[in-house]
Amino acid sequence: MNFELTEEHLAVQEAARDFAQKELKPGVIERDSKMIHATEQIKMMGELGFMGMMVSPEYGGGGMDTISYCIAMEEISKVDNSASVAMSVNNSLVCWGLETYGTEEQKQKYLTKLATGEWIGAFCLSEPEAGSDATSQQTTAIDMGDHYLLNGTKNWITNGGTSKVHLVIAQTDREKGHRGINAFIVETDWDGVGIGAKEDKLGIRSSDTHTIMYTDVKVPKENRIGEDGFGFKFAMKVLTGGRIGIAAQAVGIAAGAYELAVAYSHERAAFGKPINQHQAVAFKLADMATDIDAARMMVHRAAWMKDEHMDYTMSAAMAKVFASEVAMKHTVEAVQVHGGYGFVKEYHVERLMRDAKITQIYEGTSEIQRVVISREIIKKGNLYAPILGAPEKV
Ligand code: CAA
Repeated sequence: MNFELTEEHLAVQEAARDFAQKELKPGVIERDSKMIHATEQIKMMGELGFMGMMVSPEYGGGGMDTISYCIAMEEISKVDNSASVAMSVNNSLVCWGLETYGTEEQKQKYLTKLATGEWIGAFCLSEPEAGSDATSQQTTAIDMGDHYLLNGTKNWITNGGTSKVHLVIAQTDREKGHRGINAFIVETDWDGVGIGAKEDKLGIRSSDTHTIMYTDVKVPKENRIGEDGFGFKFAMKVLTGGRIGIAAQAVGIAAGAYELAVAYSHERAAFGKPINQHQAVAFKLADMATDIDAARMMVHRAAWMKDEHMDYTMSAAMAKVFASEVAMKHTVEAVQVHGGYGFVKEYHVERLMRDAKITQIYEGTSEIQRVVISREIIKKGNLYAPILGAPEKV
């Protein structure tokens, strides 16, 4: 693994940073406070190639590696996590899932539009009674011969109100447990797709999070993804990659708060000198820098392993649990460095602190990441497998 970023990585970093600072930052406080979706800005992200970064150019994507995607996610997440979660779901769950497991017809019909951001996608797994326990799907898709009949409710769906395409996980045969689960491509303007009210949340407040109701939705047979019964494994495989994107988001949140704290620590004086000349503040900055550096390396390693077709299950889970906990811990500390100013919206750190919390919850809670990591340790019996680059290719 190479620790040096390539020319391409640096160009992506500059483009994403430039976009985030010029286009996302000016309205981010108002959007957050009034829960206004960044519709125009997300459209621009599509035009700039941020919505299908890893998709191959033949389907309209950027053909970039996963590290490029993580770098862009980090820069955008320093500023606007409602925009970056829309980007993350579209890139790592929807586009990657379709490109890796979809048929050629599905790719031509859906991926080409999703990769350019012309359409936005959503990933519909969570339900009122099925969050961490993802096999307990209550949504059903009954085989009617030439189509499936889809019924059920999905919760906390990112891009729920603005997406044109949903990847829906549903139970087709309860007797078969997780092997009786399938994944379907559903268009949101089909009869029977209902969109509930936007959720009023602690963080990522302008993110488009909705409950979705499916009532007798006719899903054509050709819209099932993969072989019959592949849906649960599809969800797990897609989420394993998705966790790298959320880990990159968490690094961005922590790094954004850190950059604000460093700048403020130069400007603000107390007891006759800048506050960073006081060890109480300087050591907080040192701990932030150290943890963010470690989290970023874990994210890039998981991304590199994914691109090398290694088994990255454990390293993605480790990156997500570590980076999200770093984001939570150090956004709290960045508010503390700012003192009273950190508590007001104008200084941006309080928003990053609120945004950090969701990274410990969505795409698998910290507790679920620990389940995944501990199962991998027990299964493989080698704690160092991800560090050594897991020779086993998958
Ligand atoms: N890759 C491939 N296959 C996998 C897998 C993985 N990472 N994890 C499990 N599987 C397979 C297993 O091998 C098993 O298959 P076999 O029986 O053929 O061997 C099958 O899936 C069932 O696995 P388990 O017995 O381990 O299943 P489980 O019920 O114990 O659950 C779990 C495992 C890891 C806890 C899983 O349920 C899970 O990840 N839960 C969290 C769900 C989640 O992340 N939700 C996020 C919602 S989406 C979201 O947040 C998006 C957003 O809007 C931002």
